[in-house]
Order: sequence, then C-alpha cells, then structure tokens
Amino acid sequence: MIRVAAVGDVHLDADVQGRYRPALEQLTECADVLLLAGDLTRHGTVAEAQCVAREFGGLAVPVVAVLGNHDYQSDQPDAVRATLREAGLTMLEGDSVVLDCGGRSLGVAGVKGFGGGFGGHTASNFGEPEMKAFVGTTVAAAGALRAALGALDCDVLVALTHYAPVPDTLVGEPVEIYPFLGSYLLGEAIDAAPTALAIHGHAHAGSERGTTPGGVPVRNVAHPVIRQAYSVFHVEPQPVAASGAR
Ligand SMILES: [Fe+2]
Ligand SMILES: [Fe+2]
Repeated sequence: MIRVAAVGDVHLDADVQGRYRPALEQLTECADVLLLAGDLTRHGTVAEAQCVAREFGGLAVPVVAVLGNHDYQSDQPDAVRATLREAGLTMLEGDSVVLDCGGRSLGVAGVKGFGGGFGGHTASNFGEPEMKAFVGTTVAAAGALRAALGALDCDVLVALTHYAPVPDTLVGEPVEIYPFLGSYLLGEAIDAAPTALAIHGHAHAGSERGTTPGGVPVRNVAHPVIRQAYSVFHVEPQPVAASGAR
C-alpha cells in the first residue's frame, strides 16, 4: 500500500503562509508523498511562489506538483516553476516522476489540463481560430497526460491535474461553468492507462469523490472542498482501496 497525501488550491500569499505548515510537519506519520493539484498561489507572482516554497519546501516526504490557472495569472509560470524546483518540489507539466515508496514504485503523471466540458456539452474544434485554440489547448494537455501515463511502468500509477477529468467532482458548482472547470478528454487519457487514482483541484465548490467512465477513482482535493491541510489516500496497485482524512 502506498499512502498519497494531496491538496490543491492552497492559494498562498504572505497572508496565508504558515497555515499548512504545522500539519505538513506531521506528514511522515501518514503519507509517503504529497501531491499539490495546482493553484498554489493567488496571482502567480514569484513573491507568492516563494511563499509556496517556504510552506512546502524541506518536507520529509517528496512533493510533486502541477500549476493551476491562478499560477499563470502574472504570465510567468516558468519563473514560478523554477522557484518551486529550487525548493525541492518536483514540478510536472506533461511529464512524470517515479518515486520509491518503501520498495513499491509510485508513478505520477501530471498536467495542468484545461477546460472544454463533458458528456455531449463540449466545446468543439470548429469556427474561429480562438475557439480552435481553446479546444486545441485541451487536446494537447490531454494528449500529454495520456503519453505520460502510458510511458510509466510502476506498481501504482496516479494522475495529477488541476482541471477536472470528470463532472462528478464538480457537483456543487454552477453547471453553466462546467466547461471551464475540466474536460472529458482528461478522463479518457486517465482511462487509457492502468491508473489507480486521479487527483485534481480547481472546483472550489465541487464535490470530493468521483469516478471516470473506466472506473478510476477521482478525488477533488481543492482545499475549500476537503477543508483540511491534505487528504490521504491509501492506494493499492489495483484498485484504490480506501481513502482517509487528516
Ligand atoms: Fe483555485
Ligand atoms: Fe483553478
């Protein structure tokens, strides 16, 4: 069993810094790894990224993260990523990492993802170039996630995104904004590999639990949803056994 802690949408700035650290110091007691599901900052500034670095750097467990849309707001996602890498975080965007967790290998494939919608109510690659760019961004993100998941050979495979791969975990959000909260294409990418667990954030008013059409458990770990420093999921090679909370 591998113990995966996860939280998203911590939206750190100087005012928030320090809120999570006491619980983070307890991570080794309950988790092998911490996943951060994007929206790490409020407005994507380097100063805010430095707050994230101080909050999530130097922990006793590996930290693997993707960025969220808020982390792009100041048009310097590369600088934000670099700041977090300097603090020891593994930053994913269409790639993956394999970690040794007590003799079992955990593969994490991560991508921010993008919108587009679900279940027949989706944006289509048609018409204006702006619309094609919108849909193309999602197609590229889902393709990158599919490739990253497919390239991994490990005991437990986890998908990490900011945007949602299924609508289940959006319940509570206005249905009108579902197309801006995620895309079924991410779910299809997750189902194309033997994924054990899919983690995402972004939907602050959504729900915690969902499942892909292929049966992969999906968990929305946005901080406003889980209302704790992180949730912990106990993951077996096949399938996810249970989830706990802390
Ligand atoms: Fe957020
Ligand atoms: Fe977000």
